[in-house]
Amino acid sequence: MFLRTGTMARAHMVAVELSALTREAGLSRCAAFVQHGDTSCLLHCVAVAFYSALLLDALRIRYDRRSLIRGALLHDFFLYDWHQRKRAPHEPMHAFYHPIAALENARKCVALTPLEENIIRRHMFPVTLVPPASREGLAVCLVDKLCALYEGFARGSYPLLRRLYARLLADSPEISDGQ
Ligand SMILES: [Fe+2]
Ligand SMILES: [Fe+2]
Repeated sequence: MFLRTGTMARAHMVAVELSALTREAGLSRCAAFVQHGDTSCLLHCVAVAFYSALLLDALRIRYDRRSLIRGALLHDFFLYDWHQRKRAPHEPMHAFYHPIAALENARKCVALTPLEENIIRRHMFPVTLVPPASREGLAVCLVDKLCALYEGFARGSYPLLRRLYARLLADSPEISDGQ
C-alpha cells in the first residue's frame, strides 16, 4: 500500500541520516538536554524530521528528502540547556540565538548543502524575521512549532517514534539536567 510503503521508506531514511549524523557529528549529544516536557532535544529533532517529511509526502510536494531530514535533525543542534542558559546582557535570547549556534556546531562536524544551512538558520521564522527560502525549510519551520506545542502538553511523547528508533535513541547519553 502507498501509505504503508511511504511510511516505512520515510522511517528508514530518517534512521539512516540519524545514524550517520550520530556517527559524524555526535548528534546524540542532544539527548542530554530537555527540549519541552519530557521530550529530549534529540527526540524533538527526530520528530521534526519525520513529520516534516510526512507533511510534504502527504501534500505530494516534490522535495529534497535527504536535505530536509538532515536539516531537520540538525535544526536544534545548539548543545546547551536553554532552560538554564545564563546570558550576558548583550547576548540575544535563546529564540534568536540558537539557530546560529546550531548551524555553527553543525558546520564544525559535517559538510552542509546550502539548503540544509538555510533550513537550520531560518527555522525560527517568524520570531526571526527572514523566512526560509525553500519548501523544505517552510515545512520544518511549521512542523517545529506544532511539535513544540504537542511536547508542551504530552507525557511519553511520540510513542511511535520512540519504538521506531529505540536502538538509535538508546545509543544516546542519558537525559540529564543538562550540566
Ligand atoms: Fe529551534
Ligand atoms: Fe525545534
